[in-house]
Amino acid sequence: MKNILITGGAGFIGSNLAVALQSEGNRVVCFDNLSRRGSEILLQRIQEYGCSFVHGDIRNAEDFFKLNDSFDVLVECSAEPSVLVGVHGDDARFQTNNNLFGTVNCLEFARIRRIPLLFLSTSRVYPYSAINKLNFREDESRFEYADYRAGAGPGGISTSFPLQGFRSLYGATKLSSEYLLQEYSGLYNLPSIINRCGVIAGPWQLGKADQGIFTYWLYRHYYSRDLKYIGYGGRGKQVRDLLHIDDLIALLKKQIEVLEHYRGEIFNVGGSTYSSLSLCEATELCRSITGNVIPIAGIAEDRAADLKWYITDNGDTEAVFDWKPQKTPATILNDTYSWLTACGKKFSSLFGET
Ligand SMILES: NC(=O)c1ccc[n+]([C@@H]2O[C@H](COP(=O)([O-])OP(=O)(O)OC[C@H]3O[C@@H](n4cnc5c(N)ncnc54)[C@H](O)[C@@H]3O)[C@@H](O)[C@H]2O)c1
Repeated sequence: MKNILITGGAGFIGSNLAVALQSEGNRVVCFDNLSRRGSEILLQRIQEYGCSFVHGDIRNAEDFFKLNDSFDVLVECSAEPSVLVGVHGDDARFQTNNNLFGTVNCLEFARIRRIPLLFLSTSRVYPYSAINKLNFREDESRFEYADYRAGAGPGGISTSFPLQGFRSLYGATKLSSEYLLQEYSGLYNLPSIINRCGVIAGPWQLGKADQGIFTYWLYRHYYSRDLKYIGYGGRGKQVRDLLHIDDLIALLKKQIEVLEHYRGEIFNVGGSTYSSLSLCEATELCRSITGNVIPIAGIAEDRAADLKWYITDNGDTEAVFDWKPQKTPATILNDTYSWLTACGKKFSSLFGET
């Protein structure tokens, strides 16, 4: 039995992890400012499973004083995870405060209280400006990559991919947080693991157009709302890999067991070549799952910070943790659909948004 603190514990990943860990006999405390729209629904769920909840904001160091227990592990899952936040400048300071200075408070809390830290980072640390310049072939339903070079091989983008280029404020705040965490690990002998996650999807994801794209795609089909293919000619051929939340949790559980032995090592975590979709392939899948055909407009012009293609090379992660993604895109979207239909209309106002 472990005492586990999850910051962002009322979010998609945090709440699913909390429920899984609490159900196995651990004591989980979720800390969250409930800023994500709909997080009160996820809060209700974690409380039903017996997790404790502390309302707090990682930007406010004093909010950590509310946490009186001792913890064996801190899993940092809080963030503003949208790549579009900051692109117009008006919310740039918010993004930096939330995702970078907030992390500093988490690191200080972990340092002072000696708590090993598992950090959820993102594949968005890899610069889109460099990835989008790779040579892609345009196939019938997707862009395919075959022009291999350092850090971008047949398995996808690995942790050795060069980091020069633009990556969005989201990616930059996460990369800066990674560097700080590594320094804390080195200087203060603080155990930690950094997971650079690709797209994670599955039940209880409150997907939006700018974050949680595949679940959002499914909801829009389910509720018969329109969609847009944005960028790269407007034909929906951009590709991302996707990982089922259960597959991610299986890995995080393994990492928690061995966290003591790590000091800021970085791992890529995603669906890999095993589980990927283009948007137009996602459309086909959503049509067959929901039975609904919805209007999808094409906007040829590219959007700031978007990616034409990204597949996670999980090679090192699979070898080190004896772990592999198990769920295909069809399983991921079918599981999400089952959850959505079971939950009825509770979410329609969230997912009906444009
Ligand atoms: N879901 C994905 O596809 C994905 C992919 C890569 C990385 N990640 C990373 O995983 C982590 C969890 O993502 P998620 O999908 O669960 O996102 P989410 O938005 O569902 O959850 C984040 C939670 O953090 C909370 N939060 C935000 N700012 C906070 C603050 N200042 N103080 C306290 N709580 C705050 C939100 O209310 C929300 O409940 C994030 O760090 C994200 O960057 C997610």
